Amino acid sequence: MKDLRAIILAAGKGTRMKSDIPKVLHKVCGQPIIQYVLDVVKAVGSLTTYVVLGHQIDKVKEYLPSDLVAVEQKKLLGTADAVRSAEKYFKNYRGDVLILCGDTPLLSKSTVRNIIRKHKSSKAACTVLTAVVHDPNGYGRIIRSDSGVAMAIREDKDAVGLERNIAEINVGVYCFQAKELFAGLKEIKLNHKKKEFYLTDIIELFARKNLKVVTVETEDSQEGLGVNTREDLATAETIIRQKVLKDFMLSGVTIVDPQTTYIDRHCQIGQDTTIRPFTVIENNVRVGKRCIIGPFARLRPGARIGNDVEVGNFTEVNRSKLGDQTLMKHFSYLGDAIVGSGVNIGAGVVTANFDGKEKNTTHIGNKAFIGSDSVLVAPVKIGKKAVIGAGSVVTRGKVIPDNKKAFGVPARIIE
Ligand code: UD1
Ligand code: MG
Repeated sequence: MKDLRAIILAAGKGTRMKSDIPKVLHKVCGQPIIQYVLDVVKAVGSLTTYVVLGHQIDKVKEYLPSDLVAVEQKKLLGTADAVRSAEKYFKNYRGDVLILCGDTPLLSKSTVRNIIRKHKSSKAACTVLTAVVHDPNGYGRIIRSDSGVAMAIREDKDAVGLERNIAEINVGVYCFQAKELFAGLKEIKLNHKKKEFYLTDIIELFARKNLKVVTVETEDSQEGLGVNTREDLATAETIIRQKVLKDFMLSGVTIVDPQTTYIDRHCQIGQDTTIRPFTVIENNVRVGKRCIIGPFARLRPGARIGNDVEVGNFTEVNRSKLGDQTLMKHFSYLGDAIVGSGVNIGAGVVTANFDGKEKNTTHIGNKAFIGSDSVLVAPVKIGKKAVIGAGSVVTRGKVIPDNKKAFGVPARIIE
């Protein structure tokens, strides 16, 4: 879009998180908070996007995709100052600016599309995204005139008396005419309580100048959540997790107990797969159709599970592939393993994939049978239809040919 650019504010310290990690890099459902905001901006069109950074700038920069412009806010003097840090990029620009905060992971694409649409159609100088919430504590409140026009945003610290009961809050997402925005920013005064320049003070300024301010409400009130504390982080996690689980259920996956099932956002799970309670599935996992996963299973990034596979209780699969109809039903760890189809992984089988320096691969051929409590010290190769006796240790570098049996500590091939 030529006449719309985005600025994401992410320079803040996140003091209330009490953390050495920059706030926007804290994870929700396996993904940094800021990624949710980036995804939303990306979805509304290809906007030139500026991200204002300050606190631990290098760490956040490292995470950001290279097509974004990182802007440094030298001193953390508040949200108005943060926007001003980007001013130099807007010198001859006459279009609109979409401003978002980096700490609102629940924001939806359609809500952001709505605010852009309303801003364009109303020709307002500023359009503010609001949400009506149960508990407005901590947020800026929308102050309206008797006729309902938004006149100001009162920050939580400054809200007194009846203002404190106002349930309509500022989400921290705005559309501005760039020209009016940067002119207005120059007039914002320091808030003496917080020693910051508040972007939100611009609303009162605009109202006084008779510049048009309109508002748009979020589709869902939860979208307004700004993550400022660890408690907010957990709230965001719960809400996003429920959405992720709902989407999987709608796509034909049975989730026996959503309360105890943890699935990250970027996974694929095939139809008619059942996820039993207390299962954790992390990002970048693929599970095929008609599988049974859990209870108490953990599938870690890079797990590729075929169709009709069972991964049962107290199991972990990490960077490993399991072919169709393979069974791994109890107490087992597979890391860096390439397992064929129709394989039986007995109870207690462990791949010892890490030698203290490197991760090594275990290959297990189709229809092999790995007896209970065996340890496969990678790198090893177990052939097709090979059988490993219970309690064996297949030592490093060993190759068990197709159709052969091996057992013992160390495992020896039976001719
Ligand atoms: C802000 C809004 C508040 C709104 C709430 C919504 C202001 C003054 N207040 O409050 O009205 O209800 O968000 O979640 O804007 N940031 C910078 N530089 C700074 C300070 C902050 O880039 O100097 C960034 C932060 O990294 C964050 C965003 O701006 O992503 C908002 O800052 P935060 O401190 O979280 O503001 P809130 O108190 O939540
Ligand atoms: Mg915030």
